[in-house]
Amino acid sequence: MSLEKLLPSLIRASLDEDYRTVRSIAMRLIRRIKDTHPSIANEIAEALSQHGVGASAKRSVGISDSPVDTETLFSLATVDEPLEVARPIFSDKVNELIDTFIQERRESKKLMSVGLNPPSSLLLYGLPGVGKTELAKYLSGVFGLNLIVLDLSSTISSYLGKTGQNLKKVLDYAKSGPSILLLDEFDAVAKRRDDMSDLGELKRIVNVLLKELEDWPNHTIIIAATNHPDLLDSAIWRRFDRAIEIGLPDKDERIKILMNELISVKMSKDLTSIIHVIGEMAKGLSGADICKLVERAKRKSVLSEISLEDALLRELPDFIKGDTVEFNKQFCKLAKEKLDVSIRTLATWLGKSPSTIQYYLKEKGGNLDD
Ligand SMILES: Nc1ncnc2c1ncn2[C@@H]1O[C@H](COP(=O)(O)OP(=O)(O)OP(=O)(O)O)[C@@H](O)[C@H]1O
Ligand SMILES: [Mg+2]
Repeated sequence: MSLEKLLPSLIRASLDEDYRTVRSIAMRLIRRIKDTHPSIANEIAEALSQHGVGASAKRSVGISDSPVDTETLFSLATVDEPLEVARPIFSDKVNELIDTFIQERRESKKLMSVGLNPPSSLLLYGLPGVGKTELAKYLSGVFGLNLIVLDLSSTISSYLGKTGQNLKKVLDYAKSGPSILLLDEFDAVAKRRDDMSDLGELKRIVNVLLKELEDWPNHTIIIAATNHPDLLDSAIWRRFDRAIEIGLPDKDERIKILMNELISVKMSKDLTSIIHVIGEMAKGLSGADICKLVERAKRKSVLSEISLEDALLRELPDFIKGDTVEFNKQFCKLAKEKLDVSIRTLATWLGKSPSTIQYYLKEKGGNLDD
Protein backbone atom coordinates (compact mmCIF):
# COMPACT_ATOMS: atom_id res chain seq x y z
CA MET A 1 0.00 0.00 0.00
CA SER A 2 1.35 3.43 -0.86
CA LEU A 3 1.82 5.89 1.93
CA GLU A 4 -0.91 8.24 0.62
CA LYS A 5 -3.47 5.52 1.08
CA LEU A 6 -2.86 5.60 4.81
CA LEU A 7 -3.83 9.25 5.03
CA PRO A 8 -7.67 8.95 4.99
CA SER A 9 -7.58 6.32 7.77
CA LEU A 10 -5.16 8.45 9.75
CA ILE A 11 -7.33 11.55 9.44
CA ARG A 12 -10.52 9.64 10.24
CA ALA A 13 -8.92 8.08 13.31
CA SER A 14 -7.59 11.45 14.52
CA LEU A 15 -10.98 13.12 14.14
CA ASP A 16 -12.63 10.23 15.99
CA GLU A 17 -9.98 10.45 18.72
CA ASP A 18 -9.22 6.80 18.05
CA TYR A 19 -5.67 6.97 19.33
CA ARG A 20 -5.08 3.26 19.05
CA THR A 21 -5.49 3.43 15.26
CA VAL A 22 -3.51 6.68 15.04
CA ARG A 23 -0.63 5.00 16.86
CA SER A 24 -0.74 1.91 14.76
CA ILE A 25 -0.75 3.89 11.48
CA ALA A 26 2.03 6.13 12.83
CA MET A 27 4.16 3.09 13.61
CA ARG A 28 3.61 1.80 10.08
CA LEU A 29 4.60 5.16 8.68
CA ILE A 30 7.78 5.19 10.75
CA ARG A 31 8.76 1.75 9.53
CA ARG A 32 8.19 2.78 5.92
CA ILE A 33 10.06 6.10 5.97
CA LYS A 34 12.80 5.52 8.55
CA ASP A 35 15.48 5.01 5.86
CA THR A 36 14.31 7.57 3.34
CA HIS A 37 13.20 10.32 5.76
CA PRO A 38 14.83 9.59 9.12
CA SER A 39 14.21 13.06 10.57
CA ILE A 40 10.45 12.88 9.85
CA ALA A 41 10.38 9.36 11.34
CA ASN A 42 12.05 10.78 14.43
CA GLU A 43 9.57 13.60 14.65
CA ILE A 44 6.63 11.18 14.49
CA ALA A 45 8.26 9.00 17.16
CA GLU A 46 8.71 12.08 19.31
CA ALA A 47 5.04 13.03 18.90
CA LEU A 48 3.98 9.50 19.84
CA SER A 49 6.08 9.41 22.96
CA GLN A 50 4.89 12.89 24.05
CA HIS A 51 1.21 12.25 23.50
CA GLY A 52 -0.86 12.25 26.67
CA VAL A 53 1.93 13.54 28.90
CA GLY A 54 -0.26 16.45 30.01
CA ALA A 55 -2.89 14.10 31.40
CA SER A 56 -0.64 12.80 34.16
CA ALA A 57 -0.44 16.20 35.83
CA LYS A 58 -4.20 16.35 36.00
CA ARG A 59 -4.38 12.87 37.47
CA SER A 60 -1.61 13.39 39.96
CA VAL A 61 -4.11 15.13 42.19
CA GLY A 62 -4.87 11.65 43.41
CA ILE A 63 -7.53 9.18 44.17
CA SER A 64 -10.55 11.44 43.77
CA ASP A 65 -9.81 11.43 40.09
CA SER A 66 -9.64 7.64 39.79
CA PRO A 67 -12.32 5.69 37.95
CA VAL A 68 -15.32 5.11 40.11
CA ASP A 69 -18.20 2.72 39.77
CA THR A 70 -21.00 5.23 39.50
CA GLU A 71 -23.57 3.02 41.20
CA THR A 72 -21.63 2.09 44.28
CA LEU A 73 -19.27 5.07 44.25
CA PHE A 74 -16.67 2.61 45.34
CA SER A 75 -13.21 3.25 44.13
CA LEU A 76 -12.12 0.63 41.65
CA ALA A 77 -8.48 1.40 41.72
CA THR A 78 -6.04 3.43 43.75
CA VAL A 79 -3.76 5.97 42.17
CA ASP A 80 -0.45 6.66 43.87
CA GLU A 81 2.04 9.27 42.87
CA PRO A 82 5.51 7.94 42.12
CA LEU A 83 7.67 7.51 45.18
CA GLU A 84 11.34 6.83 45.12
CA VAL A 85 11.61 3.47 46.84
CA ALA A 86 14.65 1.23 46.93
CA ARG A 87 14.69 -1.70 44.58
CA PRO A 88 13.79 -4.89 46.45
CA ILE A 89 16.59 -7.43 46.73
CA PHE A 90 16.45 -9.85 43.83
CA SER A 91 18.68 -12.43 42.18
CA ASP A 92 21.17 -11.28 39.53
CA LYS A 93 19.02 -12.81 36.84
CA VAL A 94 15.89 -10.90 37.89
CA ASN A 95 17.91 -7.69 38.25
CA GLU A 96 19.24 -8.10 34.75
CA LEU A 97 15.73 -8.48 33.32
CA ILE A 98 14.56 -5.41 35.23
CA ASP A 99 17.55 -3.37 34.04
CA THR A 100 16.87 -4.36 30.45
CA PHE A 101 13.22 -3.35 30.77
CA ILE A 102 14.19 0.03 32.25
CA GLN A 103 16.82 0.66 29.61
CA GLU A 104 14.49 -0.25 26.75
CA ARG A 105 11.80 2.05 28.15
CA ARG A 106 14.32 4.87 28.51
CA GLU A 107 15.39 4.40 24.91
CA SER A 108 11.79 4.31 23.66
CA LYS A 109 12.31 7.09 21.17
CA LYS A 110 15.32 5.43 19.63
CA LEU A 111 13.40 2.17 19.25
CA MET A 112 10.32 3.90 17.88
CA SER A 113 12.34 5.91 15.39
CA VAL A 114 13.16 2.65 13.64
CA GLY A 115 9.63 1.34 13.94
CA LEU A 116 10.19 -0.90 16.99
CA ASN A 117 7.87 -0.78 19.96
CA PRO A 118 9.43 -0.45 23.41
CA PRO A 119 8.25 -3.08 25.90
CA SER A 120 5.12 -1.98 27.75
CA SER A 121 3.92 -5.05 29.63
CA LEU A 122 5.39 -7.21 32.36
CA LEU A 123 4.04 -10.30 34.03
CA LEU A 124 5.48 -10.90 37.48
CA TYR A 125 4.95 -14.25 39.11
CA GLY A 126 6.17 -15.90 42.27
CA LEU A 127 5.20 -16.92 45.79
CA PRO A 128 3.50 -14.47 48.16
CA GLY A 129 5.76 -11.83 49.70
CA VAL A 130 8.66 -12.04 47.24
CA GLY A 131 8.39 -8.38 46.22
CA LYS A 132 6.13 -8.28 43.16
CA THR A 133 4.01 -5.34 44.29
CA GLU A 134 7.07 -3.61 45.67
CA LEU A 135 8.77 -3.94 42.27
CA ALA A 136 5.81 -2.20 40.60
CA LYS A 137 6.16 0.66 43.13
CA TYR A 138 9.88 0.83 42.46
CA LEU A 139 9.31 1.05 38.68
CA SER A 140 6.72 3.77 39.21
CA GLY A 141 9.44 5.77 41.02
CA VAL A 142 12.09 5.01 38.39
CA PHE A 143 9.90 6.26 35.55
CA GLY A 144 8.16 9.00 37.54
CA LEU A 145 4.77 7.58 36.56
CA ASN A 146 1.65 7.33 38.70
CA LEU A 147 0.88 3.82 39.87
CA ILE A 148 -2.71 2.76 39.31
CA VAL A 149 -3.40 -0.38 41.31
CA LEU A 150 -6.36 -2.58 40.58
CA ASP A 151 -6.67 -5.52 42.94
CA LEU A 152 -8.56 -7.98 40.80
CA SER A 153 -9.45 -10.39 43.58
CA SER A 154 -11.47 -7.78 45.44
CA THR A 155 -12.86 -6.24 42.27
CA ILE A 156 -14.18 -9.58 41.13
CA SER A 157 -15.88 -10.42 44.39
CA SER A 158 -17.46 -7.03 44.92
CA TYR A 159 -18.58 -6.49 41.38
CA LEU A 160 -19.40 -9.92 40.10
CA GLY A 161 -21.68 -9.36 37.19
CA LYS A 162 -20.09 -6.09 36.19
CA THR A 163 -16.40 -6.86 36.36
CA GLY A 164 -15.86 -6.71 32.60
CA GLN A 165 -17.37 -3.26 32.46
CA ASN A 166 -15.37 -2.08 35.47
CA LEU A 167 -12.17 -3.55 34.20
CA LYS A 168 -12.64 -1.75 30.90
CA LYS A 169 -13.17 1.49 32.79
CA VAL A 170 -9.87 1.13 34.63
CA LEU A 171 -8.04 0.08 31.49
CA ASP A 172 -9.36 3.10 29.59
CA TYR A 173 -8.40 5.38 32.46
CA ALA A 174 -4.88 3.94 32.53
CA LYS A 175 -4.51 4.33 28.78
CA SER A 176 -5.55 7.97 28.83
CA GLY A 177 -2.08 9.13 29.86
CA PRO A 178 1.36 7.91 30.91
CA SER A 179 1.15 5.72 34.00
CA ILE A 180 1.82 2.24 35.31
CA LEU A 181 -1.21 0.03 35.73
CA LEU A 182 -0.74 -2.80 38.18
CA LEU A 183 -3.22 -5.63 37.87
CA ASP A 184 -2.63 -7.29 41.21
CA GLU A 185 -3.82 -10.83 41.96
CA PHE A 186 -4.09 -11.19 38.23
CA ASP A 187 -5.08 -14.85 38.36
CA ALA A 188 -8.44 -13.78 39.80
CA VAL A 189 -9.66 -13.07 36.29
CA ALA A 190 -7.12 -14.65 34.07
CA LYS A 191 -8.39 -18.17 34.51
CA ARG A 192 -7.82 -20.72 31.82
CA ARG A 193 -10.52 -20.42 29.23
CA ASP A 194 -10.98 -24.18 29.13
CA ASP A 195 -11.68 -24.30 32.87
CA MET A 196 -15.19 -25.74 33.11
CA SER A 197 -15.85 -24.05 36.44
CA ASP A 198 -15.37 -20.64 34.85
CA LEU A 199 -18.31 -18.37 34.77
CA GLY A 200 -19.16 -17.00 31.35
CA GLU A 201 -18.24 -13.57 32.63
CA LEU A 202 -14.68 -14.58 33.46
CA LYS A 203 -14.26 -15.78 29.91
CA ARG A 204 -15.49 -12.47 28.60
CA ILE A 205 -13.06 -10.68 30.86
CA VAL A 206 -10.17 -12.76 29.61
CA ASN A 207 -11.18 -11.79 26.11
CA VAL A 208 -11.31 -8.09 27.02
CA LEU A 209 -7.83 -8.41 28.51
CA LEU A 210 -6.42 -10.26 25.52
CA LYS A 211 -7.69 -7.60 23.19
CA GLU A 212 -6.35 -4.76 25.33
CA LEU A 213 -2.97 -6.35 25.81
CA GLU A 214 -2.63 -6.93 22.11
CA ASP A 215 -2.56 -3.22 21.48
CA TRP A 216 -1.46 -1.62 24.71
CA PRO A 217 -0.18 1.94 24.06
CA ASN A 218 3.50 2.65 24.56
CA HIS A 219 3.09 5.50 27.00
CA THR A 220 1.55 3.27 29.66
CA ILE A 221 3.13 0.28 31.32
CA ILE A 222 0.93 -2.59 32.36
CA ILE A 223 2.20 -4.92 35.05
CA ALA A 224 0.32 -8.03 36.12
CA ALA A 225 1.26 -9.86 39.30
CA THR A 226 0.22 -13.34 40.33
CA ASN A 227 1.01 -16.13 42.78
CA HIS A 228 -0.65 -18.69 40.53
CA PRO A 229 1.00 -18.57 37.12
CA ASP A 230 -0.43 -22.03 36.39
CA LEU A 231 -3.95 -20.55 36.26
CA LEU A 232 -3.07 -18.19 33.45
CA ASP A 233 -4.25 -18.83 29.98
CA SER A 234 -1.37 -19.48 27.57
CA ALA A 235 -2.75 -16.78 25.26
CA ILE A 236 -2.29 -14.30 28.12
CA TRP A 237 1.32 -15.35 28.68
CA ARG A 238 2.10 -14.66 25.06
CA ARG A 239 0.68 -11.13 25.19
CA PHE A 240 3.19 -9.91 27.77
CA ASP A 241 6.47 -8.51 26.53
CA ARG A 242 8.26 -10.15 29.41
CA ALA A 243 7.35 -12.63 32.17
CA ILE A 244 9.63 -12.51 35.19
CA GLU A 245 9.64 -15.21 37.81
CA ILE A 246 10.60 -13.85 41.21
CA GLY A 247 11.91 -16.61 43.44
CA LEU A 248 12.38 -16.79 47.18
CA PRO A 249 15.58 -15.05 48.26
CA ASP A 250 18.69 -17.22 48.59
CA LYS A 251 21.08 -16.99 51.53
CA ASP A 252 22.98 -13.93 50.30
CA GLU A 253 19.77 -12.13 49.35
CA ARG A 254 18.26 -12.90 52.77
CA ILE A 255 21.33 -11.41 54.45
CA LYS A 256 21.04 -8.28 52.28
CA ILE A 257 17.36 -7.89 53.15
CA LEU A 258 18.18 -8.26 56.87
CA MET A 259 21.00 -5.72 56.59
CA ASN A 260 18.65 -3.25 54.85
CA GLU A 261 15.96 -3.68 57.44
CA LEU A 262 18.47 -3.10 60.21
CA ILE A 263 20.17 -0.18 58.51
CA SER A 264 19.06 2.28 61.19
CA VAL A 265 20.48 0.10 63.96
CA LYS A 266 24.06 0.42 65.11
CA MET A 267 25.85 -2.66 63.80
CA SER A 268 27.86 -4.52 66.40
CA LYS A 269 30.06 -7.50 65.64
CA ASP A 270 27.48 -9.69 67.38
CA LEU A 271 24.62 -8.37 65.31
CA THR A 272 26.54 -8.89 62.08
CA SER A 273 27.27 -12.52 62.99
CA ILE A 274 23.68 -13.08 64.04
CA ILE A 275 22.42 -11.65 60.76
CA HIS A 276 24.58 -14.19 58.95
CA VAL A 277 23.28 -17.05 61.09
CA ILE A 278 19.67 -15.96 60.58
CA GLY A 279 20.28 -15.42 56.86
CA GLU A 280 21.50 -18.97 56.64
CA MET A 281 18.73 -20.46 58.77
CA ALA A 282 15.85 -18.51 57.21
CA LYS A 283 15.68 -20.81 54.19
CA GLY A 284 12.24 -20.73 52.58
CA LEU A 285 11.32 -17.34 54.04
CA SER A 286 10.17 -14.61 51.67
CA GLY A 287 11.35 -11.01 51.76
CA ALA A 288 8.07 -10.10 53.43
CA ASP A 289 8.63 -12.76 56.15
CA ILE A 290 12.10 -11.40 56.84
CA CYS A 291 10.83 -7.82 57.12
CA LYS A 292 8.11 -9.00 59.50
CA LEU A 293 10.66 -10.92 61.58
CA VAL A 294 12.79 -7.81 62.02
CA GLU A 295 9.80 -5.65 62.86
CA ARG A 296 8.57 -8.08 65.52
CA ALA A 297 12.06 -8.41 66.98
CA LYS A 298 12.43 -4.63 67.20
CA ARG A 299 9.14 -4.40 69.11
CA LYS A 300 10.07 -7.29 71.37
CA SER A 301 13.46 -5.80 72.10
CA VAL A 302 11.89 -2.51 73.21
CA LEU A 303 9.04 -3.96 75.25
CA SER A 304 10.88 -6.90 76.84
CA GLU A 305 14.05 -4.88 77.29
CA ILE A 306 16.25 -7.48 75.68
CA SER A 307 18.89 -6.89 73.05
CA LEU A 308 17.82 -6.80 69.41
CA GLU A 309 20.15 -9.75 68.78
CA ASP A 310 18.29 -11.83 71.36
CA ALA A 311 14.91 -10.70 70.10
CA LEU A 312 15.76 -11.67 66.51
CA LEU A 313 16.83 -15.12 67.54
CA ARG A 314 13.80 -15.66 69.74
CA GLU A 315 11.43 -14.64 66.94
CA LEU A 316 13.08 -16.68 64.24
CA PRO A 317 11.68 -20.16 65.16
CA ASP A 318 8.14 -18.80 64.78
CA PHE A 319 8.77 -18.12 61.13
CA ILE A 320 10.11 -21.54 60.28
CA LYS A 321 7.52 -23.52 58.40
CA GLY A 322 9.29 -26.87 58.09
CA ASP A 323 10.39 -29.50 60.62
CA THR A 324 11.18 -27.58 63.80
CA VAL A 325 13.32 -30.31 65.36
CA GLU A 326 15.50 -30.36 62.27
CA PHE A 327 15.62 -26.55 62.34
CA ASN A 328 16.61 -26.54 66.02
CA LYS A 329 19.42 -29.02 65.43
CA GLN A 330 20.83 -27.03 62.54
CA PHE A 331 20.39 -23.78 64.35
CA CYS A 332 22.19 -24.96 67.51
CA LYS A 333 25.14 -26.27 65.52
CA LEU A 334 25.45 -23.16 63.42
CA ALA A 335 25.04 -20.79 66.38
CA LYS A 336 27.60 -22.74 68.40
CA GLU A 337 30.07 -22.65 65.54
CA LYS A 338 29.55 -19.04 64.38
CA LEU A 339 28.50 -17.26 67.56
CA ASP A 340 30.19 -19.34 70.20
CA VAL A 341 27.21 -19.15 72.54
CA SER A 342 26.55 -21.20 75.66
CA ILE A 343 24.03 -24.02 75.89
CA ARG A 344 22.06 -21.91 78.35
CA THR A 345 21.74 -19.04 75.83
CA LEU A 346 20.64 -21.46 73.12
CA ALA A 347 18.06 -22.86 75.52
CA THR A 348 16.65 -19.35 76.09
CA TRP A 349 16.52 -18.54 72.39
CA LEU A 350 14.70 -21.72 71.49
CA GLY A 351 12.62 -21.99 74.64
CA LYS A 352 13.99 -25.51 75.35
CA SER A 353 15.77 -27.11 78.24
CA PRO A 354 19.59 -27.27 78.26
CA SER A 355 19.43 -31.08 77.99
CA THR A 356 17.34 -30.82 74.84
CA ILE A 357 19.92 -28.43 73.40
CA GLN A 358 22.66 -30.93 74.26
CA TYR A 359 20.68 -33.60 72.41
CA TYR A 360 20.29 -31.29 69.37
CA LEU A 361 24.02 -30.64 69.33
CA LYS A 362 24.88 -34.33 69.40
CA GLU A 363 22.45 -35.27 66.67
CA LYS A 364 23.31 -35.06 62.99
CA GLY A 365 21.76 -32.08 61.18
CA GLY A 366 20.73 -31.77 57.54
CA ASN A 367 22.10 -29.66 54.74
CA LEU A 368 21.61 -25.90 54.81
CA ASP A 369 22.49 -25.10 51.24
CA ASP A 370 19.97 -23.13 49.17
N1 LIG B 1 12.93 -9.16 47.63
C1 LIG B 1 12.63 -8.30 48.60
N2 LIG B 1 13.54 -7.41 49.04
C2 LIG B 1 13.23 -6.53 50.01
N3 LIG B 1 12.03 -6.47 50.63
C3 LIG B 1 11.09 -7.32 50.23
C4 LIG B 1 11.33 -8.27 49.19
N4 LIG B 1 10.19 -8.98 49.00
C5 LIG B 1 9.29 -8.50 49.85
N5 LIG B 1 9.81 -7.50 50.59
C6 LIG B 1 9.09 -6.74 51.64
O1 LIG B 1 7.86 -7.36 51.87
C7 LIG B 1 6.78 -6.47 51.61
C8 LIG B 1 5.70 -7.22 50.85
O2 LIG B 1 6.16 -7.52 49.56
P1 LIG B 1 5.20 -7.45 48.29
O3 LIG B 1 3.88 -6.91 48.70
O4 LIG B 1 5.90 -6.76 47.19
O5 LIG B 1 5.07 -8.99 47.95
P2 LIG B 1 4.24 -9.67 46.79
O6 LIG B 1 5.18 -10.52 46.03
O7 LIG B 1 3.50 -8.63 46.04
O8 LIG B 1 3.27 -10.60 47.62
P3 LIG B 1 1.75 -11.06 47.29
O9 LIG B 1 1.89 -12.12 46.25
O10 LIG B 1 1.28 -11.60 48.59
O11 LIG B 1 1.02 -9.85 46.82
C9 LIG B 1 7.36 -5.33 50.82
O12 LIG B 1 6.75 -4.13 51.12
C10 LIG B 1 8.81 -5.32 51.24
O13 LIG B 1 8.94 -4.52 52.38
MG1 LIG C 1 1.48 -8.19 45.89
